[in-house]
Amino acid sequence: MPEQASEWAPYVDWLNDYITNISVFCILGITAVMLYFAIRYRRKGLDDKTPYITHSATLETAWTIVPTVICFFVFFYGFESYHEMRNPPANAMEVNVTGVKWRWDFEYANGKRSTNELVVPIGKAVKLIMRSQDTTHSFFVPAMRVKEDVLPTVYSYLWFTPTKLGEYHIFCAEYCGLQHSGMLGTLKVVSEGEFGDYLYDRQDPDAVELPPAELGKAKFAEKGCTACHSIDGSKGLGPSLKGVFGGEHTMSDGSVVKADENYLRESILYSQKKIVKGYEGVVMPAFEGQLSDAEVNGLIAYLKTL
Ligand code: CUA
Repeated sequence: MPEQASEWAPYVDWLNDYITNISVFCILGITAVMLYFAIRYRRKGLDDKTPYITHSATLETAWTIVPTVICFFVFFYGFESYHEMRNPPANAMEVNVTGVKWRWDFEYANGKRSTNELVVPIGKAVKLIMRSQDTTHSFFVPAMRVKEDVLPTVYSYLWFTPTKLGEYHIFCAEYCGLQHSGMLGTLKVVSEGEFGDYLYDRQDPDAVELPPAELGKAKFAEKGCTACHSIDGSKGLGPSLKGVFGGEHTMSDGSVVKADENYLRESILYSQKKIVKGYEGVVMPAFEGQLSDAEVNGLIAYLKTL
C-alpha cells in the first residue's frame, strides 16, 4: 500500500488488511483440509463403500452464522467510513477542481489558480468540488485513499484531511483518451504558514484572477438576477436567495431539495427543472449556454456567502 497521508488511510488499510487476512486464512485452510480429506478418505479398493452420512445441524449452523457475522462486520465498518467520506464537514476548505483532457485545473476561494498542482495545508479538511469540461475523468490520490469520478454533467465531491507533509501523486483513474496516462498532478501538503504564502503569492500575475465569489457577485448584477431575487430575505418575483445554500427547500411537486452545488447549478442553467413552491407561475430565463463554467462556479460561490 502507498504511504498513509490522510485521516482515512489507517481505516481503509485496516479493513483492507482484515479482508485480505480472512481471505488468505480461508484459502489456505480450505485447501489444506481438502487435500487432507482427499488422501485420508480416498477409495482404497473396489469394495470400499462411502458411509451414509446425512448432515450435521451444529456444523451447518456454525458455518452459516460465523461468515454472516464477519460479513456484517465488514459491511458496517465499510459503511460507516464510506458515509463519513461522502459527507464533507461544513468548515472544510473548498477548492474547485476541473478535469480537462488532459490536465487538472484548481481554483481556490481567493481566485488563485493552478494546474496539475494542488497545495493544501496539513491537518485541515479539504473539500474538492469537481467537474469535467469534456469526458469522464477520475480524481485519484492513493496516499489519501480517495478516488471519485469527475463528470461533465454534475459536480462530484471528495474530502480528506492530510496528516503528513510531502508530495503525493494525483492520477486520473478513468480512461479518458490518448493522454489519459499523462493526466498526472502533484498534491503538496505544506505547513499552514507555507500555505498562506502560496495562496497569496502574486508574483505570477496570471495565477491570480478575480475570486469566484466576486466574479459571481458581478455576474449576479450584470445578468439582472437582482430584479427578481432579493438577497436580504424579502420576497420578490422569485424566492430570496438569502441563506439559500445548504437549506432545504420545498418544490412545487412537494419534494424537498437540499440546496447543494448541483441544485444551484441546475437552477441557474435549467431554471424550469425544479420550481420552488409558491413560484409556479414565474418563468425565470434559463442561462444554459450563456455562462461559462467559471461564471457558474462564481455565482455558486457568491450564493454561499449570502
Ligand atoms: Cu482523465 Cu483519464
